[in-house]
Amino acid sequence: MMAWLAGLWSNASAAIEPAGLRDAPALARIHGASFHRGWDEGEFENLLSQRNTLIHRLSMGRKVIGFCVSRMAADEAEILSIALAESHRGRGLSNHLLLTHLGHLAGRGVRTVFLEVEENNRPARRLYEHAGFAVAGRRERYYPQSAGEPLNAVLMRRDLS
Ligand SMILES: CC(C)(COP(=O)(O)OP(=O)(O)OC[C@H]1O[C@@H](n2cnc3c(N)ncnc32)[C@H](O)[C@@H]1OP(=O)(O)O)[C@@H](O)C(=O)NCCC(=O)NCCS
Repeated sequence: MMAWLAGLWSNASAAIEPAGLRDAPALARIHGASFHRGWDEGEFENLLSQRNTLIHRLSMGRKVIGFCVSRMAADEAEILSIALAESHRGRGLSNHLLLTHLGHLAGRGVRTVFLEVEENNRPARRLYEHAGFAVAGRRERYYPQSAGEPLNAVLMRRDLS
């Protein structure tokens, strides 16, 4: 199913759809530009071929500009990653992507969703809070850094009903 985000642009529209194997290069590019340890194309191909993994792509026209990926286990899921291409940030697009993704998880029978996010990642924390996630724990020195001290993570949770 396709979710069209109409009315946000004068002559362009964005779509949120399940990602396929052919999206792996674009997803790896966006991930690599967004995180210190980027996932390569092969890692995305691997994720895309696993039955317990759900990946949505956000695209504008023919261009993939973001993704959300989660892993399901029984009636729980973990959001593994969400990212937008930098030039498309700051317009709340990730909110639509995340809510659509959560709707699909609910449709698969998922009742509880968890995620970990770096404590000081304000845009991500705001995004998750807006989507109904609440802090459920804290992990000290969780993300190793190539230089400097490891960063803390917060664990967030949302029940789907
Ligand atoms: C997290 C991410 C997906 C959010 O995408 P986005 O749709 O562009 O989000 P927005 O810029 O619209 O911002 C979301 C919220 O954070 C706020 N925000 C944005 N930048 C901020 C900053 N530097 N400081 C504080 N708040 C900020 C926005 O005001 C908005 O809050 P609001 O809805 O209360 O106004 C995007 O920033 C991204 O791809 N980041 C890199 C990857 C990442 O960190 N992913 C999450 C961890 S898995």
